[in-house]
Amino acid sequence: MKNYKVITLPGDGIGPEVVKAAMDVLKLLSDIYGLNIDIKSHLIGGVSYEAHQKPITSKVIEDCLSADAVFLGAVGGPLWDDLPHHLKPEKALLKLRKELGLFSNLRPAKVYDSLLDASSLKADILKGADLIVVRELTGGIYFGKPRGQDSEKGWNTLIYKKEEVRRIAEVAFKLAENRGCHLTSVHKSNVLESSQFWKNTIDEVHRNFSNVRLDNMYVDNAAMQLVRDPNQFGVIVTQNLFGDILSDISAMITGSLGMLPSASIGRKHQMYEPVHGSAPDMAGRNIANPIASIASVAMMFEHTFKLPDAAKIITDSIDITLKNGFRTIEIADKNYKVLSTSEMTSKIIDQIINQTQ
Ligand code: IPM
Ligand code: MN
Repeated sequence: MKNYKVITLPGDGIGPEVVKAAMDVLKLLSDIYGLNIDIKSHLIGGVSYEAHQKPITSKVIEDCLSADAVFLGAVGGPLWDDLPHHLKPEKALLKLRKELGLFSNLRPAKVYDSLLDASSLKADILKGADLIVVRELTGGIYFGKPRGQDSEKGWNTLIYKKEEVRRIAEVAFKLAENRGCHLTSVHKSNVLESSQFWKNTIDEVHRNFSNVRLDNMYVDNAAMQLVRDPNQFGVIVTQNLFGDILSDISAMITGSLGMLPSASIGRKHQMYEPVHGSAPDMAGRNIANPIASIASVAMMFEHTFKLPDAAKIITDSIDITLKNGFRTIEIADKNYKVLSTSEMTSKIIDQIINQTQ
């Protein structure tokens, strides 16, 4: 039996509800695959601030550093909006990404046929869309110094070092090799020096991946192209802030932000989280969509446990459950029966059991 240690950080808002759904799936499939997983939970975000006056404690960071994988729910909410930046719930997540060295953030957006009508975009434009945003996660304007504000101004610094661009480029080119050999690098090199540097560095790395077709696209155009014709994209690589924005846009290709999983990967550590936030208006009502969170468990099976078959069982089970007409409230129209978070999770679990018997 293989032993693993997984830390969950349910966090704020709907975080605890969707993490519970994910852990139910993780426990079931790890039993089936004979993995011995020790799951431990800690506070992060607003709930940690309430308990410790800090959005994350150094003890929690240390424990995450000793884990094989971290699974995060969501952080933030209106209660903590007015805290100074270093105490905001979001700061905990940024700190964790940095301390764990999670420089590459994979955000796949694949449209499930049965959800074609759930999107605000036209079904015939969406059909077949299957792209992945590779977002640089530990650099750029999120982390650059100097940063600050006074009564007259606010400022941040956008800086990328060569090594930071090279390593994310390598991840993206390797992914592209398995996904149609096409990579789109998104930047704003017509305006920003840091983006010209990004473009030049990606061109250098491209020399080692000459089998991959590389396109360059300005970020404003990319935002427009994503909704105009998402099928033109395979792998998108971009800086931290642009990746944050473009992955939310990509979510609408899948019909709902409640569908999008993510994996954050570094040299030594891995963290998994749904792309959606804490959705305070939905919290505690058992109505949130657990699919993004459950699909993030699939990414854990693929990247941490190296069991792509188990990952496929999860995504197939999601697909079948949707095909069977089950929906959570934000993707349901009048033709569907609306399920709660826990009912949706049970339906997906039934499918996993079906497929593994
Ligand atoms: C995300 C979130 C975070 C980000 C916030 C919560 C710090 O929006 O993971 O996309 O901006 O990276
Ligand atoms: Mn975001």
